[in-house]
Amino acid sequence: MQRIDGAAIAAKVLEETKKRADILIGRGIRPGLAVVLVGDDPASRAYVRSKDKKAADLGFHSVKKELPASTTQAELLAVVEELNRDASVHGILVQSPPPPHINEAEIVRAIDPRKDVDGFHPENVGKLAMDDPTGFVPCTPMGCIRLLAEAGIETSGRKAVIVGRSMIVGKPMALLLMRKGPGGDATVTVAHSRTKNLAAVTREADIVIAAIGRPHFLGTDHIREGAAVIDVGINRVDDPASPKGYRLVGDVDYDAVAERCAAITPVPGGVGPMTIAMLMSNTVTAAERL
Ligand code: GUN
Repeated sequence: MQRIDGAAIAAKVLEETKKRADILIGRGIRPGLAVVLVGDDPASRAYVRSKDKKAADLGFHSVKKELPASTTQAELLAVVEELNRDASVHGILVQSPPPPHINEAEIVRAIDPRKDVDGFHPENVGKLAMDDPTGFVPCTPMGCIRLLAEAGIETSGRKAVIVGRSMIVGKPMALLLMRKGPGGDATVTVAHSRTKNLAAVTREADIVIAAIGRPHFLGTDHIREGAAVIDVGINRVDDPASPKGYRLVGDVDYDAVAERCAAITPVPGGVGPMTIAMLMSNTVTAAERL
């Protein structure tokens, strides 16, 4: 069994990204990333903090805006519009999910598509669906594709089952795996909460992408022997033995599944670091396209 080391592969992506950033910095262009958090969800706060820190580590201009949960739609729109106008900011990310009173679709549409390093704007979603390489691709699915490539897992002609149909992971993941060319050409199935007999569907897969957001939802019943498993889940479960009172587990029961699969990503240390690395790469791309 191959344990796919996301932290090591992310370090490689970051090294490539730093080289591209340094070239820009040498030309007087410092890549700028703005991350916006509304509210105080602890997991979102932690993600935003690591994105801000990684950007600063790479020598980017990094702007972190932490807004109270009471922020109105109009106030958030004004923040986005100000960042759109700010020439020192090349990438804008509003951490999802926002509080329930925020209309997230409207916020995403307000981001300048050229600064939409999340790839969530309809223009970028459309470009991905149309194989137009001038858009931005969402970071987590891009990270999963890179993990498969680095681990030497063939996708062409193979059956991939994605569990989860979110705009952030499931849908773009399906589009990427069905693209023509390297890292694509898979036969893709998207399963979700209404799928009947999920285990029978996922057991058909050569590649399983788990993006449901439920701890240890997929077990040995779901994974056929020799499959490759990419676990996108980052779930907090109570753990009184841990100093933080919780630990992170994936959507896949790692210990059980690791014995039968050919390759699997751990949680933490799998997809998580890749998402951040891809965000940094997209930010440099945005600055290069300036
Ligand atoms: N929430 C979970 N993943 C992501 C992501 O990739 N981008 C943003 N903006 N929010 C998220």
